[in-house]
Amino acid sequence: MEAIIFLGAPGAGKGTLADMVKTEAGYEHVSTGDMLRAAVKAGRPVGLEARAYMEKGELVPDAVIIRIVNERLDVGSKDARYLFDGFPRTPEQARMLDQVLAKHGTRVRCVFLLDVPRDILVDRLAGRRICRSCGAVYHVRNIPPRVAGVCDACGGELYQRADDTEETVLNRLEVFRKQTESLIEYYEKKGVLVRINAGRNRELVQADILAALRKPAAGT
Ligand code: AP5
Repeated sequence: MEAIIFLGAPGAGKGTLADMVKTEAGYEHVSTGDMLRAAVKAGRPVGLEARAYMEKGELVPDAVIIRIVNERLDVGSKDARYLFDGFPRTPEQARMLDQVLAKHGTRVRCVFLLDVPRDILVDRLAGRRICRSCGAVYHVRNIPPRVAGVCDACGGELYQRADDTEETVLNRLEVFRKQTESLIEYYEKKGVLVRINAGRNRELVQADILAALRKPAAGT
């Protein structure tokens, strides 16, 4: 089993880059945000539990996240290569991941810290649109669809995520600063943190990530 992590504030481009990198570098994309939204949509108990937190932009409790990630890893093969997007988000979640990987005789290979200035984050989230059918992600100005409101890939309807309202976005950014930034130090100490200037064009950012993945694994 191998694991890399995309760590970054809301709007840093974790999902967009994961979609671009996963095929090229051969990783399975695991997004806790996508898993939670799917559970909400399907009316599953875990979704009902998570919904109120997500709507406010708060973190869903660690116990819930650890449960859904464990369920996901249980169905994967022991040789799987995972790209985690939006997980871990707390030291407790990071320790859980370390324990799971240790059981497989491995550890986190690389944590990409996607650095983006705050004004760009706010603009990206305000302009984000997602396809209801296939989940493709657009931005009304930066990465627009050919026809406004319609997905290029499948013709599905584009919508705005419920937690991309101004008030919730500001809270999500604050929650990241307070609760997730401590992970930067956690992974820096392990020697696996790679800082990426992710405020640039997505192709340039992708190239930096792929170049780092071609180097031998670092860390203690
Ligand atoms: P989650 O779904 O993980 O959301 P997030 O971390 O807030 O991140 P986003 O999905 O908003 O942004 P992103 O970095 O993926 O950016 P994107 O690629 O879309 O989590 C949602 C909620 O679920 C949380 O608030 C929490 O409640 C809960 N949750 C999830 N995981 C949890 C966990 N582990 N623990 C506890 N709670 C958890 O890009 C954004 C926009 O910018 C798009 O429009 C895109 O087209 C555009 N864009 C992207 N890259 C570029 C670029 N390089 N240039 C120009 N535009 C770009």
